[in-house]
Amino acid sequence: MPDFQNDLILITCASGKQSTALIPHIQRSYKKIRLQCNSSTSAQSLQDRYPDSEIVQADLANSDDCHRILKDVTACFLVLPPFHPHETTLGVNFIDACIAQKDNGGPLEHVVYSSVIHPILTKLLNHDCKRYIEEYLIESVVSYTILQPTHMMEMLPLHKLMQEEKPIHSVNWNPATRFSFVTTRDIGEAAGKVLRERERHVAATYQLVSTAVPLSYVEACAIVSKVLGKEVKAEHKGFEDAVDTSIKMINGGKEPPKAMKEIGARMFLYYNERGLIGNSNVLRWLLEREPTGYEEWVRLRVKEIEDQK
Ligand SMILES: NC(=O)c1ccc[n+]([C@@H]2O[C@H](COP(=O)([O-])OP(=O)(O)OC[C@H]3O[C@@H](n4cnc5c(N)ncnc54)[C@H](OP(=O)(O)O)[C@@H]3O)[C@@H](O)[C@H]2O)c1
Repeated sequence: MPDFQNDLILITCASGKQSTALIPHIQRSYKKIRLQCNSSTSAQSLQDRYPDSEIVQADLANSDDCHRILKDVTACFLVLPPFHPHETTLGVNFIDACIAQKDNGGPLEHVVYSSVIHPILTKLLNHDCKRYIEEYLIESVVSYTILQPTHMMEMLPLHKLMQEEKPIHSVNWNPATRFSFVTTRDIGEAAGKVLRERERHVAATYQLVSTAVPLSYVEACAIVSKVLGKEVKAEHKGFEDAVDTSIKMINGGKEPPKAMKEIGARMFLYYNERGLIGNSNVLRWLLEREPTGYEEWVRLRVKEIEDQK
């Protein structure tokens, strides 16, 4: 049974999209929260935003850092940084640190690992690397739940499109290819529920998909056009341009290592042809409500952006 007063909950990549959506759900139930980020800029903004939480800076590629941030932790939400060239090693190091904490009499009871939909897809390097992490976690002595989110709605730069007079969304692949989308709103709520109910979700793997019907970016932009009351076009960005600009942006504006570029390039080629399709039944069951539809997400985000002005 969770002890909401005394259990320490660790949330990794706390400045990222998924964990940002999860934190309010955890704050509502647990008192002791440790938030991990990598940069000092994010550490400062997390400190300002969550003054009652403990903020830790760590490089998840560093095994000593994994041991340090897991000290006294009862349950954790594990997200790994995007397109990291050694992502499998990061995951394995973290799980080893979980095992060591338990072996040394630590209180660790549950790891919720946010993986990705279809980690068995070998052509997608950023999915394939998570397959080995899932396998290592399943075979470890650690109680776990695996969440498998699909392509996130939040990848659409809605704020920018709202500001432009004649908005064009440049898509890194064929904008006619269809995807099942999930919003971090649903991921955060689902992960919060799992971390609150823990025992009920031990050894489960849940695919996280919000949209009941797959959508292309052409169709998604038509929905955005309807909500904004102005035409938003979806255009196909050239492959080299997509690899050069998008991966650099993910790498914080710095020139990415070659291995990181390759992960992105392979993903763009795959998405160009196949997209990413899943099913929303599991998320509907988990949330005990209808997952957020694309139009509903656009309306909610537009309101949030307008309220922040
Ligand atoms: N985007 C999608 O549609 C999608 C879908 C399914 C799964 N995923 C998976 O989701 C994961 C990313 O989650 P997200 O989108 O929530 O994150 P995100 O918004 O991309 O944020 C990245 C996070 O990683 C942290 N970070 C960067 N390098 C690090 C390092 N070496 N050690 C520790 N932390 C580091 C950053 O901290 P700082 O802010 O301090 O730099 C930040 O908190 C990836 O594994 C990706 O494959 C993404």
